[in-house]
Amino acid sequence: MGWPFFGETHKFLKQGPEFMKNQRARYGNVFKSHILGSPTIISMDPELNRYILLNEAKGLIPGYPQSMLDILGKCNIAAVYGSTHKHIRNNMLSLIGTSLIKDRLLPRIDRYMRLHLNNWDDTTVDIQEKTMNLTFLIAFKQIAEVESSSIYEDFKVEFDKLLVGSLSLPINIPGTKYYHGLKGRKNVMKFLKELVERRRESPVTSDDNLDLMLRSTDSSYMLSDEEIYDQIITILYSGYETVSTTSMMAVKYLHDHPEALQELRDEHFSIRKTKTAEESIGWDDYKSMKFTRAVILETLRLATVINGVLRKTMKTTELNGFVIPEGWRIYVYTREINYDPILYPEPFKFNPWRWLDTKSLEWHKYFLIFGGGGRICPGKDLGIVTISIFLHYFVTSYRWEEIGGQKILKFPRVEAPNGFHIRVSKF
Ligand code: HEM
Repeated sequence: MGWPFFGETHKFLKQGPEFMKNQRARYGNVFKSHILGSPTIISMDPELNRYILLNEAKGLIPGYPQSMLDILGKCNIAAVYGSTHKHIRNNMLSLIGTSLIKDRLLPRIDRYMRLHLNNWDDTTVDIQEKTMNLTFLIAFKQIAEVESSSIYEDFKVEFDKLLVGSLSLPINIPGTKYYHGLKGRKNVMKFLKELVERRRESPVTSDDNLDLMLRSTDSSYMLSDEEIYDQIITILYSGYETVSTTSMMAVKYLHDHPEALQELRDEHFSIRKTKTAEESIGWDDYKSMKFTRAVILETLRLATVINGVLRKTMKTTELNGFVIPEGWRIYVYTREINYDPILYPEPFKFNPWRWLDTKSLEWHKYFLIFGGGGRICPGKDLGIVTISIFLHYFVTSYRWEEIGGQKILKFPRVEAPNGFHIRVSKF
């Protein structure tokens, strides 16, 4: 369990996946530690991980740190369980589920992606920064389309503080990232309250998610104001780094694997051929992007954007013969499944074709990239659609070269600390 209070946090953050592997070699697939301020059971056992995700009803509820929830809000989906979770999740699905994507979100994603990807000719761009900006802008436009042009820049500054703060050490004194994170939340809330007030006063209806939330007459989807604010923060937060990092890493892997890039380009050019230059991508076009989906899944697997998810015990619980005291955290560590040589032969090779050969790989019981059970990612389709449309316009418009020598960190987050610069030129 390491040192009092600090436990093994330092080793965990410094050595990352190596720490996990070393501990597993000594203690087996399930072991205890003290990390990030809490006694924690770490499970690297695929069967047990699945069991935990499928059995929230047995008291295995989300276990995200309180410091993070203080920034994301007490009505955030990760802070609630039982019937409240059901209510919030149903509302979430009514905003980002497949039928909404098809009719409302896809045309917008297409429009904004096209607009913002069209002037990168003969320049050096930081693709990490670009994908982050694009992802956030597009998500924000889905929520508050009309107001986005006037408040977007200021809102994003505050939201970025919130994001960084939510992932930092919870030391609330002036100057720390956590302190700025809490300030960020306060200011984000101010923006959202004003936005809601203005919408309520306005006789004009808007065709976006905020209006859907405010004017819903279906009682199963009605939220209180506080729930609306936290729901917006959840949507923006959950789809931000996940989608932008996957987009950036796809660009990296495609650059390093020209044969995969060629096949992807062929897929997109054959869609483009059936359309005029101004015509947008429709649902059927998206559905036909089989290789693109494979590239995205392979990128998510190999880069492992999410290492695992957190749960905690509501009561003393026995799992696999271990007694876990009430209130202990469980780190459902799914990273190693992504490199399992039986599921994924030559696991460290970027091989999108593996997702085509065995269609069922995506439906395999140990496919936990989007989580599992009652909390399986409700934004999976939206995330894949957004990355697909990004790749569509990017690979059909540009060639690119990497500016060498740039570092990408893989743990605890996938990120390029100094940016990821590429030189792009138009076809
Ligand atoms: C492609 C990128 C994405 C990946 C890899 C991903 C992954 C995940 C994972 C692993 C979980 C499970 C968390 C848990 O069990 O505690 C999750 C949950 C969630 N995701 Fe995603 N996600 C992605 C994109 C998105 C997008 C675009 C949105 C929304 C716009 C979104 C919204 C959510 C929400 C709201 C939850 C919580 C669900 C609940 O607690 O019921 N995700 N995601």
